[in-house]
Formats: sequence, structure tokens, C-alpha cells
Amino acid sequence: MARIISILSGKGGVGKTFTTASLGITLARSGLKVLLIDADMGLRNLDLILGLENDCFYHIVDLAEGRCSAKDAILRVEENLDFLAASQKDTWNHIFPAAIETVLEDVEDDYDFILIDCPAGIGEGIHFALTMADISLVVEAPSWASKRNAEKVISVLPKKMIYYRLLNQFDETDLSTLSFDEAMESIDSDMLAGVVPYVKQTGKAALQGELVQDDPKHVIWEAFRFVANTICKGKEYPLAKWKTLLHAGAEENKIFEKKSSYKEYNRPRLDWDPRRMAYKWRGRR
Ligand SMILES: Nc1ncnc2c1ncn2[C@@H]1O[C@H](COP(=O)(O)OP(=O)(O)O)[C@@H](O)[C@H]1O
Ligand SMILES: [Mg+2]
Repeated sequence: MARIISILSGKGGVGKTFTTASLGITLARSGLKVLLIDADMGLRNLDLILGLENDCFYHIVDLAEGRCSAKDAILRVEENLDFLAASQKDTWNHIFPAAIETVLEDVEDDYDFILIDCPAGIGEGIHFALTMADISLVVEAPSWASKRNAEKVISVLPKKMIYYRLLNQFDETDLSTLSFDEAMESIDSDMLAGVVPYVKQTGKAALQGELVQDDPKHVIWEAFRFVANTICKGKEYPLAKWKTLLHAGAEENKIFEKKSSYKEYNRPRLDWDPRRMAYKWRGRR
């Protein structure tokens, strides 16, 4: 039976969807069977990061309400990694959470891990994830607002929930954000899932729906391997280790900044298709 991880945050834009995809890719590449579920109803984005937006004909609400089979709705991302989209039309106010829970119960035996990309905040949408999850991962960016809101989310977690905090989008060269020490101030190291650097090149890959094709040598993937080991195997890394990753992330950003003046990085992503009289994505999967 799968272990279910809900990915939460107080503030939006801190990287829940990015984390769901990256952690999922990391676990799948270590040989585990993983299902990614987008539970951000009405504001779905995980399909875009995975480059699957043109393939989502059915979604989790269709599956819950019997309009399609699991085979129609669950898409293959790559070996060991599957994806189930959120509804773009329905919102959590109109969805019966028990129906969504049944979907999870039906697929649970097919996977080692199910990762749920939740909506931001403490609204309706996170309750189903919290009833089903074994572990919660609360994502926060290096700002006081994001930290305070993460702490609010933690305060509404069920008493027995195992949870971790993930510091994301860290750029040690950006003086406008919290420093590493400030961000760590209120975080108990037992609760720390990890510190993930802000890596521009991987961010760009995510933006273009090409996260799966991002170079596995990029530091982000090492960071997510450490995060996976912490959450799934109970490993603990010293803070110095995370700092080393942040430093490596900043170095990668420098190289990216230099290269991004070249055509290779700024190639246009859309082509005009005269037959269809519409733009089409170039180089999409
Ligand atoms: N560690 C990171 N490095 C680079 N880009 C990141 C990182 N984390 C998130 N991003 C980018 O930041 C933006 C917001 O992330 P997203 O996952 O959509 O946030 P959320 O789901 O919490 O609203 C996206 O464009 C995403 O690709
Ligand atoms: Mg999101």
C-alpha cells in the first residue's frame, strides 16, 4: 500500500507544484512506483510543469464520478511515474471529498508513494489530503510571511500527522530574502526535510514543461535526493550539507546567467502553424 505525502503551504508560489514534480521524479528514478495527484482544483498547474497539458482529457473528478476509468485519467510521465490531473472547472466547494478519497483507495495498491499537490492555504481543499496522508510536507520560501503562514498550516495538521518543513527557492546571493540562519531560526532540525536552492535553469525547464528532461546533474536533483532520504528513510543531514548545496546552486545560476545570452537558451518556444492558424509548442513531448 502506498505511503501518501501531502505537499502543502500557507502562501502560494513557494514551490509546492515544483516540489511535487521534482520529489516524484526523484523517487521514481530510484525505482519506486509513484503517482502524482494534482489537488489544486480550478488552479491546476502540475500538468504544465510535466508538459502534459495537451494530454489531460480526463481528471480526478471525472474518475471520482465514474465518467472515465483509471486507465483514461492516469497518464504516464516516465517509467515508474504516473500523473492524475485536477479538474480545471470544479472547485473544492463543489466536490465531495469522500468521492476523491475512494479514488485514492482504489489506486493505493499500485504505488509505493502517492504525492498530493495541494492548494495553498488552510481552505477546504487540504482536508481530503490531510485525512488520507501519512506524511505532510510544508513548503516555505525565505520570507517572514511564508514562514508565518507555514506555521499556521502546521497548527491545523491532525495531532498525529508526521510532518516536515521544506525550505525552497533559496538563493544565497539574493540579499532581499531571509538569510539561511534567519530562515532556520524557528525550525526544529528534526522537522527539516531540506533546503532546496533556487536554480534558474531548472526553474526555466519547469516553466517550459520540460522538468523531466532537465539535466540530472543539476544540483536541484541532489537536493531532492537528500529530501527523499530524509522524508522516506529518516536520514538527517547536517546544516553544512544543505549550505553546500545552496552554494552549488548559486554557482549554477552564475553559469546560467552567462549562457542565457546565447540563442540556445532564448530560443522561441512557439511556432506559428499556418495550417491550423494557431501557435503550437515547439519541441513539446
Ligand atoms: N527551487 C526552485 N528553483 C527554481 N525555480 C523554482 C524553484 N521552486 C519553484 N520554482 C518556480 O517558482 C514558481 C512557483 O512555483 P510553484 O511550484 O508553481 O508554486 P506553488 O505551487 O507553491 O504555487 C514556478 O515557476 C516554479 O517553477
Ligand atoms: Mg501550485
